[in-house]
Amino acid sequence: MTPTLDGKVAIVTGGASGLGLGIVRRFVDAGASVVIADIDAAGRQLAGECGGRARFERVDVSSAEDVSAVVDAAVRHFGGLDVMVNNAGISSTMHRSFLQADLSDFAKVMSVNVLGVMLGTREAARYMAGHDGGSIINVASIGGLQAGGGVMTYRASKAAVIHFSRSVATELAPLGISVNCLAPGGVPTPILASSVPGLAPEAVDKFVQKTREKMRRDRPLPLEGTPEDVGEAALYFAAATRTAGMVLAVDGGTSARESA
Ligand SMILES: NC(=O)c1ccc[n+]([C@@H]2O[C@H](COP(=O)([O-])OP(=O)(O)OC[C@H]3O[C@@H](n4cnc5c(N)ncnc54)[C@H](O)[C@@H]3O)[C@@H](O)[C@H]2O)c1
Repeated sequence: MTPTLDGKVAIVTGGASGLGLGIVRRFVDAGASVVIADIDAAGRQLAGECGGRARFERVDVSSAEDVSAVVDAAVRHFGGLDVMVNNAGISSTMHRSFLQADLSDFAKVMSVNVLGVMLGTREAARYMAGHDGGSIINVASIGGLQAGGGVMTYRASKAAVIHFSRSVATELAPLGISVNCLAPGGVPTPILASSVPGLAPEAVDKFVQKTREKMRRDRPLPLEGTPEDVGEAALYFAAATRTAGMVLAVDGGTSARESA
């Protein structure tokens, strides 16, 4: 049976682009009302395309005030909050060797990828604890499961999301709140190009093309990953009430291999 979110209210952070956009569309299709919580106003147009079942709120997930305000907005406009997807995330800058990494983006990456997820979990759980519970889905990455090079701060941030989610799941489950984690594999979205700032457009295109080829090679399933795959997996956790503390790799089998 296809899970339904009829009558449910969800917030999707980072819902204006990429995987978040895939989750927003899947949730709206499944019957939910969705708040698209993003720092990028592109989410306003997406909300307009969802026929009254979505609204955009400008949110910086690393701000406790913003995150608290978006929970209030969901309750005010749609009457409650059943599902929180902490999906917003950024890449760290790619380095050829960790010896050359200046780590100048460390605080920014950690504040969006880790603090943002922790604030989203806390603010949603504060509401859900007094309103029959709910489901919280934190988007990590197979970069937080598998060792590998290139983007150490990003990998460290995603490993932190996984450990935080499993830990907080044990504390929130008795309150009727299920916290689970998605660990997507590579999906071509704007985040790829953002890991190589300062390159000329042709060099960025070449980088994205090479990265996509590697991502395809690494997947046992011979299909490139898509935002729809991640939307489907998010729907499972959104509708499930009997799983908590799980980490679901949505990666076509990539992380089942020995190494990245
Ligand atoms: N694309 C992949 O290959 C991949 C793989 C594994 C995990 N992920 C994770 O999936 C999530 C979504 O990534 P994506 O690939 O869709 O990237 P994306 O760049 O397409 O989308 C990220 C969204 O987050 C928003 N955002 C960034 N900083 C924000 C902030 N401070 N507050 C609110 N919104 C903010 C952006 O505006 C954007 O809409 C991220 O957490 C990413 O780490 C992506």
